[in-house]
Amino acid sequence: MDSELSRNGHFQSAAAGDPTPLLDPYGREVNYLRVSVTDRCDFRCVYCMSENMTFLPKKDVLTLEELEQLCTAFIDLGVRKIRITGGEPLVRRDIVSLIEKLGAHIDTGALEELTVTTNGSQLEHMAEKLVACGVKRINVSIDTLDAKKFHTITRWGNLDKVLVGLKAATDAGLKIKINTVALKDVNETEIPSMIEWAHGQGFDLTLIETMPLGEIDYDRVDQYLPISKVRANLEHNWHLDDLPDRTGGPARYVHVKETDGRLGFITPLTHNFCESCNRVRLTCTGQLFMCLGQDDKADLRAALRDGHSDEAVHDAIREAISRKPKGHDFAIERRNQNPSVERHMSTTGG
Ligand code: 5AD
Ligand code: SF4
Repeated sequence: MDSELSRNGHFQSAAAGDPTPLLDPYGREVNYLRVSVTDRCDFRCVYCMSENMTFLPKKDVLTLEELEQLCTAFIDLGVRKIRITGGEPLVRRDIVSLIEKLGAHIDTGALEELTVTTNGSQLEHMAEKLVACGVKRINVSIDTLDAKKFHTITRWGNLDKVLVGLKAATDAGLKIKINTVALKDVNETEIPSMIEWAHGQGFDLTLIETMPLGEIDYDRVDQYLPISKVRANLEHNWHLDDLPDRTGGPARYVHVKETDGRLGFITPLTHNFCESCNRVRLTCTGQLFMCLGQDDKADLRAALRDGHSDEAVHDAIREAISRKPKGHDFAIERRNQNPSVERHMSTTGG
């Protein structure tokens, strides 16, 4: 694909191992790829999915080989960190073979880090395999430590199984961050005890505001709990010291003096992180989203299946990055009940 943009000189034609960083129009270097390897999940969290989800037909989903090929193209173009997400990535059959192949890029030094975001349901039998592949850190989503409430939120999940998985992950030596979605009237009062629990286990914990992604069976306004309010409540009892470390993502971190642990806040509805955004998201059908909160995408599956060359894929990636928008337009308003973005988090990956 000798695209117009390359004729205009906006980017160079890519070659394998091209050291030119992937720069977007705002000068941000894109070095972080999040890959959703499946849209399926063994849970049905109320803020994420409807109970009767329609999943993608198999032919639309990239094979593990195709996913590997795309990830390798990104690594060739300078991506240094890959996060495997879903859906629930660990329910995809033979996913370890992909993680293993990607992990080999850590051994060569081409990739700095390979991480996984999971609901924890498969960790009991997967944790050691992940470590063997070169994974050192995982994010595990847990919104409550009350077994009944956990079942209500996830519809199909079993807290005990996840806790056993967490133990296996700890024993395998994985560093763990808990992701907790803050839900009004659901886990609001439990948040301090969850932080104490996580920090007591040596886990970081990050609180996430609900994002208007995809049709669900509930009203998001009823679930919406502003993180600013959660933080203000915590500060009645605890000392939170801002930490300087930024990951290029939407999380802000503090150190909690009383628990001596790290606490993150993800407030996607504010714009305070877009200016340092270093990431793009690949879906399991090979669509590349340049922003979680925008609909613009590039069809890398077409570049892969029609182009039949690494160069076609590299050019498609560079062209897509040259369209990365400045920021998102999320809003949860009382009058507007429709999702700002129609695809679910399980499509684009968290
Ligand atoms: N808003 C906020 N967080 C969400 N997650 C899934 N859907 C949403 C949403 N609409 C969370 C999951 C997980 C992370 C990957 O994203 O609970 O912690
Ligand atoms: Fe599955 Fe995660 Fe969505 Fe829950 S939030 S349904 S665990 S993909």
